[in-house]
Order: sequence, then C-alpha cells, then structure tokens
Amino acid sequence: MMTVRICPSVLNADQNNLAQEIERVKEVADFIHLDIMDDKFVPNFTYSFEQTRKIVKQSLLPIDLHLMVNEADYWGPQYATLKSNGVFSVTVHFEATKDLSQTISLIKAEGVRCGVAIKPATPVAVVKEILDKVDMVLVMTVEPGFGGQSFMSEMMSKVQTLRSWIDDKDVAHTWLQVDGGIALATIDEASASGADTFVAGSAVYKSENPAGIVEELRKRALASRR
Ligand code: DX5
Ligand code: ZN
Repeated sequence: MMTVRICPSVLNADQNNLAQEIERVKEVADFIHLDIMDDKFVPNFTYSFEQTRKIVKQSLLPIDLHLMVNEADYWGPQYATLKSNGVFSVTVHFEATKDLSQTISLIKAEGVRCGVAIKPATPVAVVKEILDKVDMVLVMTVEPGFGGQSFMSEMMSKVQTLRSWIDDKDVAHTWLQVDGGIALATIDEASASGADTFVAGSAVYKSENPAGIVEELRKRALASRR
C-alpha cells in the first residue's frame, strides 16, 4: 500500500493569521509542518516554546514539529510534552544532539512520533543504526533556515539509500521525509527516489489556491512512486 503524506509548512504563510492559514488546507493536508528556529542552530528565529504551544493549540491539523535548535537532547523531549495540545511528531537534527538514542526514547515516551533530520552536508550513514528506533528520517533538500530556496537534487542519492535500507530492514513504519524546495516541479523526483512524506512551504502558501496545490502535489507524488 502506497501512502503519501503532504505537510504544508507555514514558515512563509501569514504569521498574523496562522490559524486561518492552516484552515485553508485542513481538508487536504495530512499535517502542518511547523519550523522551530532558535537563531543559533540556524541564522533565523521563529517561535518560542510558549508561542509554539499557542499555535499548536489553535491548529485544526496535527503538527509535525521540525526543531532547528541547539541542545536538541533537551528541547526534543520538552516539545514532545505538547502532545496533548496537538503535536503529532517531533523531529530533531542529528547535528544538534549528543545522545541521539536516549533523545529518541524520551520523545517517544511522551507518546509522539520521533523524527531525525540530517542537513545537506551530513552523510546518510549516521542514521543507519537508528532506523529501527526512529519513526521518520528527514533528509533536508535545502540548507535549513529559510523557505523559498532551490531544491537540491544531489540529496536524492541519500533518499534512495534510505529507501533501500528501510525496505531491506523491513522497518516499513519508518517514514522518509524531504523538506526544502518541494514544489510541482520537484516532487516527482523526490517521490521517485523513495520519499513518502513531503514538506512544502512556499509552493503552497505563495499560491492563490493552497489547497489546490496540496492536492496536485499529492497526485504527482503518487504517480511517481516506484
Ligand atoms: C527550511 C524549513 C522548511 C521550509 C520549507 O529550513 O525547514 O520547512 O519551510 O520551505 P520551502 O518549501 O519554501 O522550501
Ligand atoms: Zn522544516
């Protein structure tokens, strides 16, 4: 059974009307991808913990949290406590953790799914051993920090490698996410490479018809799955 998940990122949506922006895609999207940046791990800041709690609470869709923050061993489990407010999954960056295995366990202990993200310069091998522990691997297809950047095709070899490991290890519960530059022109390639979970920010919210774009993204991703 093929499943495709589309997660609109509200990073470049209207920040003064986030609840309404989320409502615009609520019939067609699977999750809302919320980017948390601390101005340290990446040169940009988005929301504090308290601000995040409010956004999550107001969201009509479950939240896929992408933590681009330092000290992820502390912050991952902390954000996971927002489960009761509507957090569905928490993704930490491999580069920001010191004890990845323990952090994964602590996040999962809160009852949310745990993802691990790798930046473009990080080799895919670093996640091989944790594939059976983690619920999702996120391959960044841009340098994290900003929306609206160009999709890095050269990351597709990582996605292909991960897809073969996931299939070989029979850890089919592990989702494979891509984030950065996903749009109508690039989702085919990402899907054909083996991704099943797609973040799209500007492609969705720069459009006059965000819901229509989400539907079209899903259609194309399904059509290009191997
Ligand atoms: C970038 C963020 C992305 C961003 C994607 O660091 O992690 O989630 O919102 O935006 P687009 O789809 O415009 O590349
Ligand atoms: Zn993101």
